[in-house]
Amino acid sequence: MIPEIGPLRPWTDPTQIQIGRLPMRSTLPIDPAFRQILDGAWQFRLFEHPDAVPADAVTSGIPDGGGGWHSVQVPGNWTMQVDGDHPHYTNIQMPFPGPPPATPARNPTGVYRRTFALDSSWTGRRLVLHVGGAESVHAVFLNGAFVGYGTDSRLPSEYDVTDVVRSGENDLAVVVIRYSAHSYVEDQDQWWMAGLHRTVYVEARASVHIGDVEVDADWDPVAMTGSLSMRSTVRFEPNTEPMRGYQVRARLEDAEGGRIGSETELPVPHRHFAPYVFKGHVVTATWPDLAVRPWSAESPTRYTVRVELVDPEGAVVDSTTQQVGFRRIEVRDRQLLVNDVAVWIFGVNRHDHHPDRGKAVTVDDMRADLSAMRALNITAIRTSHYPNDSTFLDLCDELGFYVIDEANIESHGYNHVLCDDPTYRGTWLERGARMVTRDRNHPCVIAWSLGNESGYGDNHDALAGWIRSADPSRPLHYEDAIRLEGWNDGGRAATDIVCPMYPTIDSIAEYGESGLGDRPLIMCEYSHAMGNSNGSLADYWDVITSTPGLQGGFMWEWKDHGLRQVLADGTRRLAYGGQFGDIPNDCNFVADGVMSADLEPHPAAAEMAWVYRPVTVRLTPDGMEIENRQSFIGLDWMRAEWELSSDGVVTASGNLEVGDVGPRTAVAVPLPVAIVDAPCGVDVCLTVRWTSRDTTWWAPAGHLVSWDQMTLAERVASPNGSAPESEATGSTLPADSVSLPQPRLNLFRAATDNDGFKLMPDLAVRLRVGGQALREWQVVGLDRLDPEDLVRHVTKRTVDPAGTVGYHHIVEVPDELADAPRVGVVLQVAGRFERVRWFGHGPHENYPDRRASAMLAIWDQPIDRLPYLVPQEFGLRTDCRWLELVDRDTGRTLRIDIDGPPLHMSVIRHTSSELFAAASTTDLHVRDDVIVCLDVAHRGLGTASCGPDVLPEYRIEPGRYEFGYRLSSIPA
Ligand code: GAL
Ligand code: MG
Repeated sequence: MIPEIGPLRPWTDPTQIQIGRLPMRSTLPIDPAFRQILDGAWQFRLFEHPDAVPADAVTSGIPDGGGGWHSVQVPGNWTMQVDGDHPHYTNIQMPFPGPPPATPARNPTGVYRRTFALDSSWTGRRLVLHVGGAESVHAVFLNGAFVGYGTDSRLPSEYDVTDVVRSGENDLAVVVIRYSAHSYVEDQDQWWMAGLHRTVYVEARASVHIGDVEVDADWDPVAMTGSLSMRSTVRFEPNTEPMRGYQVRARLEDAEGGRIGSETELPVPHRHFAPYVFKGHVVTATWPDLAVRPWSAESPTRYTVRVELVDPEGAVVDSTTQQVGFRRIEVRDRQLLVNDVAVWIFGVNRHDHHPDRGKAVTVDDMRADLSAMRALNITAIRTSHYPNDSTFLDLCDELGFYVIDEANIESHGYNHVLCDDPTYRGTWLERGARMVTRDRNHPCVIAWSLGNESGYGDNHDALAGWIRSADPSRPLHYEDAIRLEGWNDGGRAATDIVCPMYPTIDSIAEYGESGLGDRPLIMCEYSHAMGNSNGSLADYWDVITSTPGLQGGFMWEWKDHGLRQVLADGTRRLAYGGQFGDIPNDCNFVADGVMSADLEPHPAAAEMAWVYRPVTVRLTPDGMEIENRQSFIGLDWMRAEWELSSDGVVTASGNLEVGDVGPRTAVAVPLPVAIVDAPCGVDVCLTVRWTSRDTTWWAPAGHLVSWDQMTLAERVASPNGSAPESEATGSTLPADSVSLPQPRLNLFRAATDNDGFKLMPDLAVRLRVGGQALREWQVVGLDRLDPEDLVRHVTKRTVDPAGTVGYHHIVEVPDELADAPRVGVVLQVAGRFERVRWFGHGPHENYPDRRASAMLAIWDQPIDRLPYLVPQEFGLRTDCRWLELVDRDTGRTLRIDIDGPPLHMSVIRHTSSELFAAASTTDLHVRDDVIVCLDVAHRGLGTASCGPDVLPEYRIEPGRYEFGYRLSSIPA
């Protein structure tokens, strides 16, 4: 049994939040000489249950391996490092039977052991152990003695170990229990992991030290000055008599170390001499009217507050710093304002995730996320659904991102119970209050979130009240408050922002247009990026940018949570729920990022970068309008170039000189080139591209930031030829044409995650969760019947003397097939074709409702590979006028010229049925030949896996479809 706490079993009791844990404080840097980082290899042993941990596992000397002990890395999740306990994925349901606060019969418990030696210079100081993050609860023992117990997997816990530490070697043991009564408020949609996933260190604090520093750095947008107030708490440790004569000295410095304003030195109130008036060992100071520059995500200027504690003899006994940014956040007139200016929330939800390390992300991982985000024009992050390591906020302060900091509270499985349950009240409050206490000094944090998907109850209002009192400088955010009580006027106690998840476009438009609500609408989640997704992203932004009261939102989500798995035969894959034998699970619902788990952008990332672009260009009757969508800076950090093309061939180009365009300003400029009447039947486009002038922390110079393509003239699309009644065969084919592929009618696509959950038929079919299109296709047999039996289809085939074979198709889609996936043909061509050139939308994959970012041009690319974690339809390019496949061996080209309406095409090495049949990339075989699909109509993508399905205008209507093309084989 675990010593001390074993009999009490605090992990089974939600009211047991902490034992012996120090109060939370801001993240205060200390002289590195006084900190010893304990990261690295620890001895580790796994037990089946906390009750199965023998006392000597924590009290004996450090085991040297054997007897179940082996080495693991800290920070790390043991679920990613050891055999015998694996990651477990669930969305809403809990991984074990409840109800709260019941814990599971098998409850893996890890004992971590290591030693450390004290530095002799630390004598006389207070020793504090810092546990950065432990999932789910942990207990600390030092030299065999119980030190303390802590809950909340996503915030640090600190323990004063001065009384148990000894000179020489110290034996440290941390017991981490995988599931607890607190798991019910950590029921976020992610992998359940376990272990010490953040840094562990021990630090030596002066016996009288700076206990905390709170700063409030405000910016007055009218006076254009900053003001700073600081509240510093001094801690006289137990057994240290508070003495008169201590002073707190503080000053503000700019990045070069130059002092701003005056230095203050104020006495520390020292004793409870008159308890009635005593306010603690707290020093407050203010600096008004500072000549500083404001902080914003676009211009993240930071300053340093230096704080020193001076003892009665005049010696500096402790010192620390805080980075501050001067800014003011307000909600006014249905807008979220930063320094009095509305900002677009070009946001994304981010989880801590790494395919190999799980929840143990490194600073490099965080930086990699942030630079990839910035390169995709993201400006705002919701830390879904828990506070990150404070280093992440440091980076956001420094690099410039707006952050909604979210408390680690999600009781989704018991959505409407725990928020009113008094036994969970304390943990609600502590989780939120400890987050605010730690993170309040970060300028990047623009709002506090009370958590996610936990219903709405008294516990929320209690937390909201505490935060409003402790930090009136920031608005609150909580989705369920408005979901359950209404957008216009509901849930005011808990949220200052109307922050729905996955609303329809119509509903947000109505909120804005009705004017009935006085709060800004910022979607806390939208555009669910599961698999081939994000349909109508640009439609959202058309409404957001044209409707008052709407300010943007946070896409769901940044990265897939795929986990690297090596199978018995050595094959590697990114795994989803269930692939570790984890039951129950929610399968691939864990893979819904705009980036892969490996940080490879999915095709929709380009669409996101486009809707989030900082500058837009549009055609007006007199020329163009250029709009700077940034709130604080001009466009001069980018260079603009224009290009005129005719049928994809560039006919003129040049630099676009627009002068500087102020923030949130639009200017009219003439067209850069005189447009002579375009010849009939030609596609004429004007494209403007903005690239970065200099190399930045996130991209090399020349990075493409924004782009717009304007259509000046369009080829008129009408099907030519008269409707054939039956197949006609032309003259004898020349020898070359024999190899030309034969088209077959094609009506099915390998269901995307939005069409329906093919891996979770019970959820999709019985419970009708997620997209329903696949279910309907299966009812009519689209997935298995010969398409010729489902529609009326006639083909006319003609062969000209040069060997070109023309096809003309008429397809009549009956009413029963409304909302079919596609109408088109499929051709199977030899595998020697490795590249594809086309004149159509590109370069990236695009679909009828996800192609605002795609440009009409001539593109040349290798054949696409599946970019999604679960096999499904991919690779479409819309509105193609022609395409060519080049034979690697002979240089011969297979050319397809489209007659009549442009066609959508995909060129991949899988058939739709193969993609549909495969549950995992490891089931998928890459064909030798190449599958070319040509579609006159293709259903949009929508976001029905979690959100609105494809809008009517992107669906396939019943009726007559007519299209044609010519195939030719051209010698090298
Ligand atoms: C939301 C939830 C997220 C995630 C998403 C679907 O309901 O807040 O955590 O589950 O849906 O992927
Ligand atoms: Mg949830």
